[in-house]
Amino acid sequence: MINLTIEDREGRRAPVEIPEGISLSLMEVLKASEYDVLATCGGMALCATCHVQVLEGPDQFFTATDTELDMLDTLPDAGPHSRLACQIHISEEMDGMVFKLR
Ligand code: FES
Repeated sequence: MINLTIEDREGRRAPVEIPEGISLSLMEVLKASEYDVLATCGGMALCATCHVQVLEGPDQFFTATDTELDMLDTLPDAGPHSRLACQIHISEEMDGMVFKLR
């Protein structure tokens, strides 16, 4: 299992367990876990409604890709550890990570 901790917009933290070997984005996992993530573009990095902030995890997950930065730049509340959840593909290296919904 890959164990994540998700902090919602009210600051409540809850665990999310993901089976290893599945091919999903973090956005899809959040939606499947009934978090309020609109994801209106369906994961194309075009809407920024899947904005999350990385709070804990391996270094490589803290840096957004260029595609993400184009969208994140349009958000007033994006910060240095902001990512688009649809552009984060679930992998075993993510075990133990903490994300905050924005
Ligand atoms: S779902 Fe639209 S940017 Fe991620």
